[in-house]
Amino acid sequence: MPSTLLHGRFLTFNDRPEAIDDTASYRYENDGGIWVEDGLIRQAGTWDAVRAAAPSDAIEIDHRPHLIMPGFVDPHIHFPQMQVIGSYAANLLEWLNTYTFVEEQRFADPDHAARVATHFFDELIRHGTTTAAAYCSVHKASADAFFAEATLRNLRMVAGKVMMDRNAPGPLTDTPQAAYDDTKAVIADWHGTGRNHVAITPRFAITSSPAELELAGALTAEHPELHVQTHLAENHGEIAFTRELYPEAIDYTDVYARSGLLGPKSLLGHCIHLSDREAGVLAESGSVAVFCPTSNLFLGSGLFDNARLAGHGVRTAIATDVGGGTNYSMLRTLDEGYKVLQLQGQRMTPLDAFYRITLGNARALSLAEHIGTLEPGSDADLVVLDASAMPAMAIKAERVETLVEELFLLQTLGDDRAIAEVYVAGEAVKSGL
Ligand code: GUN
Ligand code: ZN
Repeated sequence: MPSTLLHGRFLTFNDRPEAIDDTASYRYENDGGIWVEDGLIRQAGTWDAVRAAAPSDAIEIDHRPHLIMPGFVDPHIHFPQMQVIGSYAANLLEWLNTYTFVEEQRFADPDHAARVATHFFDELIRHGTTTAAAYCSVHKASADAFFAEATLRNLRMVAGKVMMDRNAPGPLTDTPQAAYDDTKAVIADWHGTGRNHVAITPRFAITSSPAELELAGALTAEHPELHVQTHLAENHGEIAFTRELYPEAIDYTDVYARSGLLGPKSLLGHCIHLSDREAGVLAESGSVAVFCPTSNLFLGSGLFDNARLAGHGVRTAIATDVGGGTNYSMLRTLDEGYKVLQLQGQRMTPLDAFYRITLGNARALSLAEHIGTLEPGSDADLVVLDASAMPAMAIKAERVETLVEELFLLQTLGDDRAIAEVYVAGEAVKSGL
């Protein structure tokens, strides 16, 4: 495969920014070059240096004056909820029972799952998301459709067949043994094929019996290399019901802890209403609390207390949670996340915001050696950002003088229109949609 040379400004982080302009946390090149070969980044540096190092027959693509960054990472999203997004409900449990548990039944049909998978990855790419951690439905067919399409597109994706055996309609439930067997089959069929990662995915404590959570824990012990994803402490009604279902547990977090589901590869959606004890348990286990701002506002679930969790040493990530979340865009997600923190007197700097949706989320997924930066050897998954993509952005851009101001404009007004191009394993894919 011939080499490609991308010409443009670029930004990549090497660590979490500690201040509004922590210049040590990132590398920015005003006249940059990125040399891509065999789906990987070979070198990123000044245009002159990279141009000189790359083969003379490399194909040059000029993205000036746009800003190139690592592709965005969405660590919590629901593939079967493309037709649930924007459903009118008072709260989480009403929303699940009225819409979500009805819609997800359709994914027993492999043709339906395959059709939605096509739209799902089109939408991720349109919005600049090149890696996601996704929930499929309870049906193995939904995971097969998801991974078949991800493989076809050569995307690095994390996903799992949802395990759920109670408190949901019959057609949307499995049994503990079927959940175990089907997850094993999904692992055998898809984990490590292409760039696929299979996640053990018990939906949440309400929809899994103790026996099913125990088998989820057994799977986790058998496959410590796999991610685990579930939901935790999103809504007061959910927490009260969980306490009734698991009276022997100390609290909601303990339900997962005693099943062996916590650890450095565990992704816990929401984590809004946690005690200090629970935050301490998450920190000690290295589990990741996933902030889903558009979802938490849409469902009225509450405000994610980033400062408190960080104070306990809990690892955090930020995600869309479509279809409880209301937008596929990580830029829109940053905008809403910024406001959730503002309401609590907490600040998210623009550098921190873009760190979070690239290297931060890659670290949360333990995938930073592959994605989230422009380091040599990383996957060539990239976004090209246009901060003047529409008139409202262009007029504001006339007042933008610094990189930090440009980032803040992108996160405040940007959406899929600000994503000028997307590269997946070195191939330009958005322009082909
Ligand atoms: N808790 C259990 N399932 C779900 C889901 O699909 N979405 C959200 N937001 N929370 C959940
Ligand atoms: Zn969710």
